[in-house]
Formats: sequence, C-alpha cells, structure tokens
Amino acid sequence: MNNRRTPKISLVNAEKTYRSSSGETQTALAKASLDINEGEFVCLVGPSGCGKSTVINLMAGFEKPNGGTVTIDGKPVTEPDPDHIMLFQDYGLFPWKSALDNVLFGLKCRGIRDQEAKQKALAALDSVGLATYAQRHPHELSGGMKQRVSLARALAVEPSVLFMDEPFAALDAFTKLHLQDELLELRKKRRLTVVFVTHDLEEAIYLGDRVVLMAPNPGRFVNIMDIDLASPRNRTDDRFDHYRKQLFTAFDLVHRESSQMNRALVTESIQQGGSGI
Ligand SMILES: Nc1ncnc2c1ncn2[C@@H]1O[C@H](COP(=O)(O)OP(=O)(O)OP(=O)(O)O)[C@@H](O)[C@H]1O
Ligand SMILES: [Mg+2]
Repeated sequence: MNNRRTPKISLVNAEKTYRSSSGETQTALAKASLDINEGEFVCLVGPSGCGKSTVINLMAGFEKPNGGTVTIDGKPVTEPDPDHIMLFQDYGLFPWKSALDNVLFGLKCRGIRDQEAKQKALAALDSVGLATYAQRHPHELSGGMKQRVSLARALAVEPSVLFMDEPFAALDAFTKLHLQDELLELRKKRRLTVVFVTHDLEEAIYLGDRVVLMAPNPGRFVNIMDIDLASPRNRTDDRFDHYRKQLFTAFDLVHRESSQMNRALVTESIQQGGSGI
C-alpha cells in the first residue's frame, strides 16, 4: 500500500528569472524543490535578495515560474486563490474603513450574507483580541493592532494556507513576541499550513516546524532544518539554543559567501569600465 500523502504545497525544480532594465537575466530562484505538508509551519530565511519573496509569490500565484512546477493540493498554481491568503508587512488595510468593515470586506467579496459575515468578522476580531476595537479606524490603532486586524481579515475567510512575508518586521519587540504566540495559537486551532518569511532567525526557530535557509545568486535552498522542539517553545532552553547556534552558523556562512560574491562582481564591473555601483 502506498502511504505517501500528496503534499499540501510542492515545488519541483521551480525556477524564476527576471530581466533587469539593463537587459541582464537574473535568476531569483534556481531549480528549487520543496514539499510542505498540510498543517506544517515552514519559515524561509536568508540574506536580502536571496529569493524569499519570490518563493512565496510563486506559491501564492502572484508570479509564474519560468521552469519546473508549483502545486497546491496537487494542482498547478496559476493565479491567487481565495483559499490561500497572503499577509504583508504593511497590513494592506483600507484606511477609511473601520476594523470591522476591513474584515467584512473579504467576507463580502466571497458572497457571504450580511448577518453571517458580521458574525464571522466579529469572531475573527475576537480571536485576535480586538473585539472591543471593531469600530476603530486603522489610524486609531497601533502597528500591532493593525497587523491583528489584517490577520483577522485573513482568518475570517477560513483559508487552508496562510502566506506571510515578514508580517512582524515593522513591529516593536514586545508586540512581535506577543503576535508570534497568538499566531501559533490560531494555527493550532485551525490546522493551517503556514509559509512564513522572516529576517529574524530566532523568530524562525520559535515558529517553524522547519526552517529553510536560502542563499542568493542564484536564489536557492541551501539548508532545511527540522526544529524538533515541543510547543510552547522556550527561547532560554538549551535545545532552543542548540538550534539557534546551528542556524546562525549556517546563515553566517551564506552571508559571507554572498558578500564575497558581491565584492567579486563589483571588482569585475570596475575592471570592465563600470563604476562598480
Ligand atoms: N519584479 C522583479 N523584477 C526584476 N528583478 C526582481 C523582481 N523581483 C525580484 N527581483 C530580483 O530577484 C531577486 C530576489 O528577490 P526577492 O524579492 O525574492 O528577495 P528577498 O529574499 O525577498 O529579499 P528581501 O529580504 O530584501 O525582501 C533579487 O535580486 C531581486 O532584485
Ligand atoms: Mg522579500
């Protein structure tokens, strides 16, 4: 009997190239393969420009691969799907709508009727601790609250996949820690599959079942680390520290290699008569 399950999300030799304004082809992602199971929480980390957003945009259907395949539930991803929601760093809220109306917007777009939509929206705001802020507008909310509204809007439509591109990067340290815990709670209740991009290595170890380290030029997966720690995780624990050291060491190597490569490119450009900049 074949016990292999279809992965929730699958990248097989997925490739993405861009052409720059000067006509050069840049490989943002080179033949990348990765299977993500249903209910898994996968974090993508790596230096700036290594292709993290490219990967998540391919999975979410905002970009198309130039080669290979990207599938969700076994079907090729061809466009954004309302069952797979993307959450950005800049909240994406309508400033003229209240928190409630922002959450209602997504539900109404899906044709859910007024009364049911309102119940779902209020329940979603409640699940992120904002039930009493439903009538406030974005400018009356803190950054953390805005990101919570954005999370409530995403969760209200009960997606099976949540893509998050540095969602907590603009928040202060305390708000960030708090939202990390809230996200883990919500994910546990709903069996969500989460793909989460972050610059923060510790955040990746705290949240992820797996952490995928990427390297640039060309963008690729260099290290996939299983984080075998029970939940809730403790940042001061020895085993947490073990993963922290492993990931920082691997990241340091990638970082040094990419800096060396950048220096070599600048030197080459200067030798060819360019400014190097
Ligand atoms: N629309 C585009 N046109 C041309 N090049 C692009 C485009 N989008 C991304 N790139 C290039 O592809 C590479 C990967 O970009 P990407 O945005 O995926 O990186 P990233 O890892 O998300 O970086 P950051 O951490 O800074 O957000 C970069 O070199 C970038 O310049
Ligand atoms: Mg990015």
